[in-house]
Order: sequence, then C-alpha cells, then structure tokens
Amino acid sequence: MRALVTGGSGFIGSNIVKLLVERGYDVRVIDNLSSGYLENINDYMHSGAVSFSDGDVTQEASLDKVMDGVDVVFHLAASVGRQRSLDNPQLDSQTNLIGTINVLEAMKKHGVHRIVYSSSAAMFGELVTPTIDENHPQNADSPYGVSKLAAEKMILAYSGLYDITGICLRYFNIYGVNQRFDLYGNVIPIFAERIYAGEPIIIYGDGTQTRDFLNVDDVANANLIAASSKNGTDVYNLGSGTSVTINWLAETMQRIAGKNVGIKYEPERPADVMHCKANSAKAEQILGFRAAVSLEDGLNKYMEWYKNNCV
Ligand SMILES: NC(=O)c1ccc[n+]([C@@H]2O[C@H](COP(=O)([O-])OP(=O)(O)OC[C@H]3O[C@@H](n4cnc5c(N)ncnc54)[C@H](O)[C@@H]3O)[C@@H](O)[C@H]2O)c1
Repeated sequence: MRALVTGGSGFIGSNIVKLLVERGYDVRVIDNLSSGYLENINDYMHSGAVSFSDGDVTQEASLDKVMDGVDVVFHLAASVGRQRSLDNPQLDSQTNLIGTINVLEAMKKHGVHRIVYSSSAAMFGELVTPTIDENHPQNADSPYGVSKLAAEKMILAYSGLYDITGICLRYFNIYGVNQRFDLYGNVIPIFAERIYAGEPIIIYGDGTQTRDFLNVDDVANANLIAASSKNGTDVYNLGSGTSVTINWLAETMQRIAGKNVGIKYEPERPADVMHCKANSAKAEQILGFRAAVSLEDGLNKYMEWYKNNCV
C-alpha cells in the first residue's frame, strides 16, 4: 500500500508516518517545512522507507508529482491554529481550503479514491455544551475554524460528486512526541517550556477549567483505522474519553519533570471556554477507535522526549 502524507514532517503527520512505516506502507511525504521539521522523519528517509518531496499544497504541480500510484492520502498540511490565522488569514485559507481542493483535484486526476483528513474542533467555534459530539453547532469564529470547516465540507462534497471516500477526523487537543514549543503552541509544550526554563507556569483563570487531551499515538492509530475502514465518507470527533483540569495538568507535568516552578494565575481570557470534552462514541461504534494511552503515561513519554530534544 502506498500512502501520501501531506504535512508529514509536522507534529501529527510525522507520528502517522512512523506508524505507516511500522505497518509496512510505502510512504511519501509532501511538506513545505513551514512549521514541520525534517528531523522528525529523517531516520525513515535515510532507511528508504519514506520519500520526501519539498512541495507546497497550494501549488497544483507539487501535488501532481507525488500523487501517482497512491492508495490513500492522509491530509494534514495546514496553516495551523487560531492565532496564526488571525495574523495571516489569507495564508490560512490559501493553505487549508485551496490546498485541500488541490489535493482533491490531484486525487481525481490520478484515480486516488481515499482521503483521511485531519479536521479540527476549531470548526465548532464557541462551545455551547461541555461534551461535544458531531452534531454540536458549527459556528467557527476564526479564519482557521472557517477554513478547516470549509475544507471538511469540500471533502464531503467531492465524495458525493466523485469516486472519493473522505474520512474526516476532528481533533481537539492533541499532544505528544514531536510537538515543539512555538509562539502559536498548545498548552502542553508551553508548560513544558516554562518548567524546563525554571519559570512559573502561567494559568489564565483559576485553573479549574477542563480539557480533553488525546495522545498523538492514538491519533496516528485512528488515522490508520480510518484508512482501512470499510465504512464510507463520514466525520468523527476524536477524544480521549476523559478530561482534566489545567491545575492537574500543571501539577502533574511539574511532578514528572521533578521540578517545582509554581503557578502564576492571570485573569481569564474572554474567548476561553470552561469545559471541553470530545464525545467520540461515534468513532468508537463505527470505526472501533478507542484511546489507549493514559494521560499520565503520555505525559511521562512527552516530558522525556522534550527534555532530550528541546531543552
Ligand atoms: N495539534 C493539534 O492539537 C490539532 C488539533 C486539531 C487539528 N489539527 C490538525 O492536524 C494537522 C496537523 O497539525 P500539527 O499540530 O501536526 O501541526 P504542524 O504545524 O506540526 O503540521 C502541519 C504541517 O503542514 C506543513 N505545511 C504547512 N503549509 C503547507 C503547505 N502549503 N504545503 C505543504 N505543507 C505545508 C507544515 O510544514 C507542517 O509540517 C493540521 O491539519 C491541523 O489543522 C491539529
């Protein structure tokens, strides 16, 4: 089986690449390295298990070069995150929406029939229920939420129009190995950065807000399940089945690192929701997906990786 992973040198993409290689897939990666790192997949490139194309999904010609003979596309290439999209809304839609159309058109041209899309809970916008299933209102409130929603809708439309099966997996908060700290980063790398720098962790609000953190190993597994599923085009929310407070997270990460940097509380931010938990019952019932990595185990592995690679 030949797989194409767009955005395959990024955080989640590189973990999917790793699992694909372990399962014996012939893997191609296309990535423009705008937020990905070649070192995430270097070992697989050197062993010949992965071929890398320094290409851009906004350029049709780049996709034309890598789509031939592909059995399944894992589409992750994106301009990622709310703040990045506020800073550069054109780049966001160009990459996330036009890039997705380019992927779909290249699939049509080369007779590729299956795409697994990394969608995002950002498409829901303000969360109105604490547990989020697939029917939660879709009121994306950032250019990123809109472009991820539009790309998902585009995949559903193409699968109605053409011989394409599109499985859209909506992620909430994903964490794990290869997730580096950057200005647009998620809470876990931000906390890791503060802890290893010996700086107090900053929490907005009183820290009793809860979040659902899913380990990237579970996400990679869900992608491979979706790739070989007999079920047709559909959308699925993916979560861990549990949620924890931000206070618990800050304390647990300090304990794992063996460092007590303390917590500084700042006023809560207006856009923050109090509670968020994904309802992944549909993914469980239809795809047979169930998260297997406990947050405690996942954080242990992550902090070890962070210390060895980012400090
Ligand atoms: N990390 C999360 O918690 C999370 C949550 C919801 C959804 N997602 C989705 O998962 C996917 C992967 O996100 P990630 O967290 O691994 O981020 P990431 O930034 O590490 O990965 C994105 C990858 O896409 C590449 N890329 C960006 N623009 C490109 C372009 N024009 N052409 C080719 N490659 C391009 C980047 O270089 C990078 O390797 C994204 O589609 C994102 O929207 C992530």
